[in-house]
Amino acid sequence: MATDSDERPIGVFDSGVGGLTVFREISRLLPGQPLIYLGDSARVPYGTKSAATIIRYSLEAAQHLAERDVKMMVVACNTATAAALPTLQARLSIPVVGVIEPGARAAVATTSGKIGVIATEGTVKSQAYSRAIHALRPDVEVIESAAPLFVPLAEEGWANTHVAREVAEIYLSPLIDAGIDTLVLGCTHYPILRGTIEKVVGDRVRIVDSAETTAALVKSLIGKSPTGTPEHHFLVTDAEDRFRRIAGAFLEQEIGKLELISF
Ligand code: DGL
Repeated sequence: MATDSDERPIGVFDSGVGGLTVFREISRLLPGQPLIYLGDSARVPYGTKSAATIIRYSLEAAQHLAERDVKMMVVACNTATAAALPTLQARLSIPVVGVIEPGARAAVATTSGKIGVIATEGTVKSQAYSRAIHALRPDVEVIESAAPLFVPLAEEGWANTHVAREVAEIYLSPLIDAGIDTLVLGCTHYPILRGTIEKVVGDRVRIVDSAETTAALVKSLIGKSPTGTPEHHFLVTDAEDRFRRIAGAFLEQEIGKLELISF
């Protein structure tokens, strides 16, 4: 594990802008810690691809970040966590943190018995959330459901439109009717639509976003983080102007150091 005085950045990656929800929580909890964010914008979405392809993409992204001397890797993508976390942990010599186990912990701490999970097709197919939740509490009922259109809505900056609202109603009605008391946003893009999702599910359903619990786990693993004002670094595999615009609006800050990369 990294030492207290380790000034190296933490690498954070996702298929696109979704992992910024995790990036934001880590930088809130560890304000002096430099971060390198990689959005694989050339190949988003991951959620509709096969597990073999997601493992290949994830290894390429992680390898690229590892070459930039990061001290820890955060897989800020549920789809990549579900398909590739064990492979990444086996291949890299630094700690690798995923988002599913922290999300499952937060859901179990919140539920009174029935958890809904919305995620990409890949994550739902893997049943990674059901396994992680049942490992903690076998008696809880888990209903997993795919909500793939939330990803392009987030990537387009359409989170607060009536289109997003209608899509949310279609995806969430069956879960509400099934009587869930907790809803896990099992894709890091979905917290971008949190306001819209909250309006549809109402007060009866508690929303769990694994970004906060993942950031808390990162904090506990690195110990004391560097102090000062870090300059974060952003990497994308395509369309940097588009990333600058959408990420800047989401993080409410100028995206300064942005680089176009290829693997
Ligand atoms: N944000 C990612 C996730 O958490 C993937 C979205 C996608 O690329 O389909 O699953």
